Amino acid sequence: MEPSKEYLFTHKGFYFAANITTPEYLDSLETFEIRDSDVFIATYPKSGTVWTQNILSLIFHEGHRNGTENIDLMDRIPWLEYNIKHMDYSAFPSPRLFATHLPYYLTPRDLRNKRARVIYVTRNPKDVLVSYFHFSKIMVTLEKVSDFNIFMERFLAGKVLASSWLDHVTGWHSHAEDFNILFLTYEEMKKDLRSAVLKICNFVGKTLSEKEVESVVRQATFENMRKDPRANYENLSEFLREKKPGYFLRKGTTGDWKNMMTVAQSERVDEVLKEKMKNLPIKFIWDI
Ligand code: A3P
Repeated sequence: MEPSKEYLFTHKGFYFAANITTPEYLDSLETFEIRDSDVFIATYPKSGTVWTQNILSLIFHEGHRNGTENIDLMDRIPWLEYNIKHMDYSAFPSPRLFATHLPYYLTPRDLRNKRARVIYVTRNPKDVLVSYFHFSKIMVTLEKVSDFNIFMERFLAGKVLASSWLDHVTGWHSHAEDFNILFLTYEEMKKDLRSAVLKICNFVGKTLSEKEVESVVRQATFENMRKDPRANYENLSEFLREKKPGYFLRKGTTGDWKNMMTVAQSERVDEVLKEKMKNLPIKFIWDI
């Protein structure tokens, strides 16, 4: 079953959400002016983007909320390719922080001068798949597919927003040399959030006091982010999200795929992905 054109369009071999960006805008990103102080969070959807956005924002505000308390996370770290509010990114003060689902080859050309930073976060594909399936039910911009098997086959064929998980992850990893990039995994953040926070601090050149680090870690736990309307995308406009309830921060665990997938479905993912994943320089954690 092909994805509906109402929701997705392809541009240079990659699936984008229809109605919230255009091919012209995407083409313009090639020459988007990059500043050395820019930091990009790049991910395949459902890999921990919002989590990393929150951590990064807290780090840049030294673990407290001065100046950001009334600003939604999505405005503090906006999406590069989905400039929904038509903000003038060139007028943003430095350092600018962005999030993106772009594949490595569609990012602004100047990102390859290796001065601006990229944080690329990966998550094991079975948890990504299950999270994506639930997510598509709460987003206006995504097609609702009620049958998990159909969704899974589309995911495996790369016929979803952001295309193939494997191509995305492989692409960024095999072009690591072209970027000033830090690789993180959702699972390592889950296992040891403090170490992940320190890694990010070190990468972006921020020195936080012990107390500030603690504060970032505390505010970035799943429980605290879920309670924080500015960190949990609760204020996402109705243009993007369904009115019916459903948490953006759904479960926040590793291994939830076991509650959803049958043995046969899990084996199907293994069959399509596992062999190819062996070439990736990441040790995947499927369960904690
Ligand atoms: P689940 O649907 O499995 O709960 P993204 O931001 O890339 O769309 O990823 C969303 C996933 O990250 C969701 O996974 C969400 O719950 C999880 N997530 C967000 N904040 C988190 C946190 N503080 N701790 C653990 N998981 C978090």
